Amino acid sequence: MSLENMKDLQLEEKHPQPETKEVNGILMTKMISDNWEKIWNFQAKPDDLLIATYAKAGTTWTQEIVDMIQNDGDLQKCQRANTFDRHPFIEWALPPPLNSGLDLANNMPSPRTLKTHLPVQMLPPSFWKENSKIIYVARNAKDCLVSYYHFSRMNKMLPDPGTWEEYVETFKAGKVLWGSWYDHVKGWWEAKDQHRILYLFYEDMKEDLKREIEKILKFLEKDIPEEVLNKIIYHTSFDVMKQNPMANYTTLPTSIMDHSISPFMRKGMPGDWKNYFTVAQNEEFDKDYQKKMAGSTMTFRTEI
Ligand code: A3P
Repeated sequence: MSLENMKDLQLEEKHPQPETKEVNGILMTKMISDNWEKIWNFQAKPDDLLIATYAKAGTTWTQEIVDMIQNDGDLQKCQRANTFDRHPFIEWALPPPLNSGLDLANNMPSPRTLKTHLPVQMLPPSFWKENSKIIYVARNAKDCLVSYYHFSRMNKMLPDPGTWEEYVETFKAGKVLWGSWYDHVKGWWEAKDQHRILYLFYEDMKEDLKREIEKILKFLEKDIPEEVLNKIIYHTSFDVMKQNPMANYTTLPTSIMDHSISPFMRKGMPGDWKNYFTVAQNEEFDKDYQKKMAGSTMTFRTEI
């Protein structure tokens, strides 16, 4: 059964505050933790494409772009199903009769496009063995934090974020699902030269989507006419995607995602963190950031 058919079920009762449990020191939902052996042993295929991100880095946006490329800009084909059914979220485990990411992936014909938020060291090893292509998208920490905070408020499957002040500390400490943002972006950055990984940045996509889509096209060894490229740019713009029920998560029952608390397609703008961080919080954050990112060659833009 797919999630959108679950409206009748008393999901509030079935999914109270989700329990969490660490796997290898990384916070996960208990369902993921309990299923970890199966997830770790997931069998990737050489023609799989994996979209890997830290939560809230622009996963859904990238999924839509990739799907449109793969379907040569055919909108109807891209509207065949919800994002989460088009691209299985491999570690996302749900109680039966809901489909977990593994079930969806295992039942999907190849070539498959898959999604993960796993930190690099926890990626099922078959992806490396099969040399599957991976697109990683990173987004600056402050905007990720703001986006994750609001998402945790509206998504009943994630732990309650508490107050803004509390959440800033929780995020800095990496005590959120999928662990530390700092370790995640650095870990995947270090892996990118040893594997088939295209490493993209949300801010670059926002700055010049055409340029970034062209990088994806090259990586996928795909050629499309200019008019199809322009169509993809239009249909994956924030305003158009916000209206697309197959991409904006509004088909889920409000007992799972309550868009009246905060819409999934919220702002889509680099620099929104300035509306939330106090001057003191920002200074503290920057100090801590320097320590956690020391020695890394990565640079992020917190505005464009
Ligand atoms: P905000 O909460 O800052 O608005 P993910 O898909 O990884 O969960 O990321 C969600 C974030 O990406 C949200 O950020 C969402 O608005 C933003 N997003 C989704 N589609 C987008 C698009 N087409 N253009 C820009 N941002 C987009």
